[in-house]
Amino acid sequence: MDTKKIITAGIFTLITIGAVNAQKKPYLDKTKPTEERIDLLMKQMTLEEKVGQMNQYNGFWEVTGPAPTAGNAELKYKHLRAGLVGSMLSVRGVKEVKAVQKIAVEETRLGIPLIIGFDVIHGYKTLSPIPLAEAASWDMEAIKKSAQVAAAEASAVGINWTFGPNVDVSHDARWGRVMEGAGEDAYLGSKVAIARVTGFQGDTRADLLKVNTIAACAKHFAAYGFAEAGKEYNTVDISNSRLYNEVLPPFHAAAEAGVRTFMNSFNILNGVPATGNAFLQRDILKGKWNFDGFVVSDWASVKEMIIHGYAKDGADAAQKAITAGSDMDMESYMYVAELAKLVKEGKVKEALVDDAVRRILRVKFELGLFDDPYKYCDEKREKATIGNKANNDGVLDMAKKSIVLLKNDSNLLPLKKSGQKIALIGALANDKNSPLGSWRIASDDNTAVSVLEGMQQYKGNQLTFEKGADLTIGKTAFIEELVFNTTDKSGFEAAKKVAAAADVVVMVLGEHGFQSGEGRSRTNLDLPGVQQELLEAIYKVNPNVVLVLNNGRPLALPWAAEHIPAIVEAWHLGTQTGNAVAQVLYGDYNPSGKLPMSFPRNVGQVPIYYNNYSTGRPTNGEGNVFWSHYTDVEKTPQFPFGFGLSYTSFEYKNLKLDKSTIALGAAVNVSVDVTNTGNFDGKEVVQLYIHDVVASLARPVKELKGFELVDLKKGETKTVTLTLTDKELGFFDNNGNYLVEPGTFKIMMGGSSDKGLESSFEIK
Ligand code: BGC
Repeated sequence: MDTKKIITAGIFTLITIGAVNAQKKPYLDKTKPTEERIDLLMKQMTLEEKVGQMNQYNGFWEVTGPAPTAGNAELKYKHLRAGLVGSMLSVRGVKEVKAVQKIAVEETRLGIPLIIGFDVIHGYKTLSPIPLAEAASWDMEAIKKSAQVAAAEASAVGINWTFGPNVDVSHDARWGRVMEGAGEDAYLGSKVAIARVTGFQGDTRADLLKVNTIAACAKHFAAYGFAEAGKEYNTVDISNSRLYNEVLPPFHAAAEAGVRTFMNSFNILNGVPATGNAFLQRDILKGKWNFDGFVVSDWASVKEMIIHGYAKDGADAAQKAITAGSDMDMESYMYVAELAKLVKEGKVKEALVDDAVRRILRVKFELGLFDDPYKYCDEKREKATIGNKANNDGVLDMAKKSIVLLKNDSNLLPLKKSGQKIALIGALANDKNSPLGSWRIASDDNTAVSVLEGMQQYKGNQLTFEKGADLTIGKTAFIEELVFNTTDKSGFEAAKKVAAAADVVVMVLGEHGFQSGEGRSRTNLDLPGVQQELLEAIYKVNPNVVLVLNNGRPLALPWAAEHIPAIVEAWHLGTQTGNAVAQVLYGDYNPSGKLPMSFPRNVGQVPIYYNNYSTGRPTNGEGNVFWSHYTDVEKTPQFPFGFGLSYTSFEYKNLKLDKSTIALGAAVNVSVDVTNTGNFDGKEVVQLYIHDVVASLARPVKELKGFELVDLKKGETKTVTLTLTDKELGFFDNNGNYLVEPGTFKIMMGGSSDKGLESSFEIK
């Protein structure tokens, strides 16, 4: 055959295969609308194959929770080949993803592609700051970009679904997972949720078809952030008011921004585990909010309903979970084992299974997986994308924006660039692993730029490093489990010596990256190990200390707040940590972050949050003891929500409202002039708080209802105008009805939740 003939024959064969496929698999016809394609596919599916779509398995080597038996690889492969798996998580890398996708697409009867999930929480390999830190930027554009970087890397290694964003509001710094969320406030949390969802997925549903976007997942639905006493997986017992006004809004915002999946949570709510909670999943999410994506359980949470004492066995757990609206079972084997039987016995209506499967298939179609199951499996793209310069520049930018300057007495910062002797102290300063933070499953160990490396790039000063003390004392057998809190102080003397000889001492202290995150609740919020002693010992020999904090949660550091002249909150900032910290310390970047969570004076104040309610006795007007306070410490936080300094200063003037009275349903514009009165160009987060003075249900003393990040050159003034509408002025009653009520509203505008210019208006 000549070449032409070969080509013609090839084309003919392709057309023939295509035609046979189109006949046998009409759901592969791209020209048909998605819902029709789903119908066509579901018509061909057996009950077992439908249930298979609702079954998600972890990859074969690594777990983020207790797996039933180590890996269970044999069974998983068997189920994969039988078309009994709809999704896999934590499979990563083009090679690995391709291998499992090939089984699903080429070896099963209907060839339904897998959706591949992964905890892309703050980046895939090139890591952004932990999410709590990113929230401190109050920069929604930057947060969106950071999620885009994460999506670009994840999608380049075969992943098409992230288990993020975590939109759990929490008031409890003891809970290790506050590092994963956006802090204590539902309003800020909602804005961050939207930025992250659109960053991962794109702005419209059609954007999911792009090769560099991935489906997002709002988690953990719901109220997981209110685990009692901050103890991981603990009971949640909250009021309806808290549920509707504080817990649900960021989830609703994510849903409205088009998030394609939700994950439920480990906790109970009113005695019902979230996984079996029809009120949350059916009435609210799929009912009131009209959510048409799917809900995945949390790891083994279907099965854990048995341990909660809410289901008597696996069948009962499966029945309760599907009835309540959990569409996919993550790694608890309950659906695959029980659901088909339950349907055949008439205990579960097949319509419930159909609804779940339709939702799952919908997202797969939207991602374009049926049109090209290997679209995320391009080795060339993988190579070109992972860790590339643009991604590193992106996470560096995010890292700088996430830093919060908490104290800067006598302008100790920024550091002078030459002629200085700088002592750098603290094991964390020379750590390339800890700054990567928790939830960095795909990153390679020791790949962060350390603070030492960052500072070494400024060559005008003489820099000497001494660790002073270690933070870790070894490792347990389990992969991530480092052993913390050494008592060894033998390094103190050497550290004191370099400190005494220095002009300025920079101390990097705090929590190791693995001291926060899932399963890392703490009862203390201090500096772990001997770090507090080290700090005090160094301060004694040289009080010119700049304390750089590394932490995944608010810490309580009353001694440092009183004595240490400069404090920089640097969280766990990811891959580019050292560069970001050094640029801030040397003034090449003027910090503009504001705390997304209150920092308490001591752990006994927790839960502490800015939008609390007034008690009947908030002040001590009578001068007696019978008022709402503590006898041993002030009741205010050490550093409040919304607080953060700059190397420059800002002045607020001319707070104005365009109306003093508005009708119900109307809007009011609030404006203020902000002037940069200091010596550096800088950015300020202008914040607007309201207080609904008298309402049918008591309202918080303050609620954030608007903010804007403004760039101001030295001496420049800008007028910032924010608008309050129905959306900002109402609240939910105890039945979830949204109310806007007439009456007086106080407003406050400023650079922190604890002070600002005040005014008021009426709704008539
Ligand atoms: C966590 C989830 C996570 C899942 C999969 C669970 O333990 O609670 O947030 O997405 O594991 O890794």
